[in-house]
Amino acid sequence: MSSSQFKGLYFGIPKEIMNGERRVAAIPETVKKLTDGGAKVFVEKGAGVGSYFADAEYEKVGAVIIEDIQQLYTESDIILKVKEPLFNEELGVHEVDLMHEGQVLITFLHPAAPSNHEMVKKLMEKRVISLTLDGIPRISRAQSMDALTSMSTVAGYKSVLMAADRLPKFIPMIGTAVGMIQPSTVMVIGTGVAGLQAIATAKRLGAVVYAADIRPEAAEHAKSLGAKIVETGVPADVAIGEGGYAQSLPKEWILKEQESIKDYVIKSDILILTALVPGRLAPVLVTEEMVKQMKPGSAIVDVAIDQGGNCELTKGGELIVQYSVSIDGTKNIPGMVPISSTWMFAHNIYNFIASFVKDGKIIIDTDDEIIASSLVTKDGNLYHVGAREVLAI
Ligand code: NAI
Repeated sequence: MSSSQFKGLYFGIPKEIMNGERRVAAIPETVKKLTDGGAKVFVEKGAGVGSYFADAEYEKVGAVIIEDIQQLYTESDIILKVKEPLFNEELGVHEVDLMHEGQVLITFLHPAAPSNHEMVKKLMEKRVISLTLDGIPRISRAQSMDALTSMSTVAGYKSVLMAADRLPKFIPMIGTAVGMIQPSTVMVIGTGVAGLQAIATAKRLGAVVYAADIRPEAAEHAKSLGAKIVETGVPADVAIGEGGYAQSLPKEWILKEQESIKDYVIKSDILILTALVPGRLAPVLVTEEMVKQMKPGSAIVDVAIDQGGNCELTKGGELIVQYSVSIDGTKNIPGMVPISSTWMFAHNIYNFIASFVKDGKIIIDTDDEIIASSLVTKDGNLYHVGAREVLAI
């Protein structure tokens, strides 16, 4: 890295405002890389506190601590955030309304999710250049920037602990003086990064683990971690699309899959849902009818909620109980493991920005595969393919 890479650029690191969010987009270690490269970095007062980084540690590496959030947004060329812009209740203003034309925003935007459509439209109107970290492709050149993989690792792990905590029974088999208590059953649907980590965690807790994924390769990985595979009934040629990713299934195949997994869903004590087609709305695989037939006290964690969720009943950002089953739609699970997730996130976002800033210039080259799939809005246009589909633009 040349020492003038970020020359003349002003970065803003706001404190996250999502309820319970403790992560921060930059840590002193990555701020130092920016300031060493000639950048000026503004950090909102207390932004790192949730991840145990004090303002003084940022100041030590050259950051300027700012109390007035409007000033931070006004003065920055590039905003690095963790979660999508939200309405700031305290200030009575939406975070997008603090932004200005031509400003670069890098964060998780999940632009295809219905709850984010208004926000994406606002970014277009404001002519903000927004890039979403969930759009970074899983190619080897982008591995060190892949915050979704990092966060999915955390989410998969923590989701099982959240469900376990809520479950009114033991997970492992326990021998007692009055008889043997059988282990709980955990089913993981979608065995990508988050799902595999969930399987590994559930196995460590002693559960009997079932897993389902429409990609045979993903199911194979799940099996190697000790999960019993539930066939989805979806043939590989229907399941796999471009680049080896899963593709959005036509309705008839979703119905077939629902039918195939139903019996296993119903007998699960814990259901971890992580099925996702990148950049698209998550498939609805668990219906209200299935939840109704689950055992009372069972726990669902719908990890795919950022893309709308895999269970018909999940409410984004809420924990609800229906038919005596808890359904957790927590949107920022990695925020509950702030030290590990912030460390990975801050490095990922730094590596991303460092890949397209040269000599103090931000280069948005849509011929670059990484930019092409992560760019959401620019010059008032919507670029993100998944969001264009659902917003019909
Ligand atoms: P991934 O792409 O690695 O895995 C998703 C898996 O779902 C793939 O293996 C795919 O084959 C499978 N899948 C797709 N359609 C399916 C279907 N119809 N039936 C069964 N399986 C299907 O994704 P990753 O990184 O594991 O993330 C999973 C989800 O977790 C995403 O929605 C992501 O946004 C979310 N997430 C949520 C967080 C939270 O705090 N709530 C934090 C991190 C990730």
